[in-house]
Amino acid sequence: MGCKKTKDENNKTLSESYNKVLQEHPGKKLMETHCYLCHDATKTEEERLAPPMIAIKKRYIFEDTSKEVFINDIQKWIKNPNEKDAKMFGAVRRFGVMQKLPYSEEDIEQIADYMFDNEIEQPEWFEEHYKQMKKGMKR
Ligand code: HEC
Repeated sequence: MGCKKTKDENNKTLSESYNKVLQEHPGKKLMETHCYLCHDATKTEEERLAPPMIAIKKRYIFEDTSKEVFINDIQKWIKNPNEKDAKMFGAVRRFGVMQKLPYSEEDIEQIADYMFDNEIEQPEWFEEHYKQMKKGMKR
């Protein structure tokens, strides 16, 4: 009896802490602090200094993109943002190339890990914009 209770209690704490990890992925906070300064989807287009994170996610992750490849791509970009490597031509034209900022590899790994596994906030206008953009890309 006493033994069973302890086991249940253990399980409970375990799932509780697991949920906590899920809810509070360290990458979420890091992304909001370091990247949302410019990439915040809740800001209007006029206020934002860069495309929303969801746009970046969709541009970088395809069906067959592994998490490792995605994290690598983001690390590479952060270390050396430049016009030649940029994939988001429209954004470069509109906002200029992202400036080089001193982020640690650990932070970027967490952020990219979070981005890969989680739904990111999407502005209302985005779905329509994305459809239009995809149409444009095929031409
Ligand atoms: C000072 C503003 C600013 C901050 C802060 C910022 N970015 Fe950017 N970022 C931009 C701009 C502007 C662009 C669009 C132009 C471009 O692609 O270079 C961009 C584009 C990108 C791209 C797409 C590059 C491409 O064209 O292929 C990635 C990936 C990216 N940012 C990741 C991040 C991450 C991750 C963070 C946080 C760690 C971050 N950015 C923080 C301004 C910023």
